[in-house]
Amino acid sequence: MNTQTAKAVPALPDAQTVTSVQHWTDRLFSFRVTRPASLRFRSGEFVMIGLMGDPHPETGKQKPLLRAYSIASPSWDEELEFYSIKVQDGPLTSRLQHIQPGDEIILRPKPVGTLVHDALLPGKRIWFFATGTGFAPFASLLRDPETYEKFEEVIITHTCRDVAELEYSRKLIDDLLNDEMMQELIGAEQLAKIRYYPTTTREQSPKMGRITTLLEDGTIFRDLGIDGISVGTDRAMVCGSLGLNTDIKVILEGFGLEEGANSDPKHYVVEKAFVG
Ligand code: A2P
Repeated sequence: MNTQTAKAVPALPDAQTVTSVQHWTDRLFSFRVTRPASLRFRSGEFVMIGLMGDPHPETGKQKPLLRAYSIASPSWDEELEFYSIKVQDGPLTSRLQHIQPGDEIILRPKPVGTLVHDALLPGKRIWFFATGTGFAPFASLLRDPETYEKFEEVIITHTCRDVAELEYSRKLIDDLLNDEMMQELIGAEQLAKIRYYPTTTREQSPKMGRITTLLEDGTIFRDLGIDGISVGTDRAMVCGSLGLNTDIKVILEGFGLEEGANSDPKHYVVEKAFVG
């Protein structure tokens, strides 16, 4: 005899609740979710997040639709923040862009990644090179006291198509520099080490051009009053499109820097930003 009258809806595996959502442009948004109590991660790492896919037309079964997302919040934060592109026909982000506070997302609590301090040898100056949503891991690292304990100077470059797309990084750095809690946590003197270098490629702004061009023609060094990049003092982390990553690698290696990994720390590390 079957005593089951109604089937319980299975709980979403690894579900976390959305606590806030902010839309920055029609292509970009950020959101915060609850953090699993057991989740420990190093600032700069990524996790797989997503939503349940549509039911299979014949079996009705649903599979999770997951993508790698850098955690944009620092490791000490009680919630998790993510910064995402909206791709109108992207399988995940076409839906993810509609999440609201109270909704649930799937989050696999297995953080990994190469944009971590452990993958770099000690140095004096660290360069964070970001394009588009590639700023996310640096949103985490810039809010982590370890960054300032390890380096005397922190240069963050962010290149986007237009000025509106720079708003997330501009506001985050502005808040960092002016927020009393952040000043207490990281130290006002430590925060003064940050040098923010935003550039645009498709709209007029105070500094225009791809970061690769500005490095190759020396503009960024003249603007910042720096001689150049040297293997003795400089370390770098890169996060952007495949093209950007490939092009910057060539430039950094031209300065003599070598690519590091968790198991083999060296002078620079690279990771691809989430794209779809
Ligand atoms: P561009 O406008 O010249 O393509 P996207 O929004 O497509 O992810 O791009 C973010 C930023 O990264 C844009 O400003 C874009 O410049 C720049 N970009 C894309 N590819 C490269 C590359 N290979 N080298 C340097 N910058 C790049």
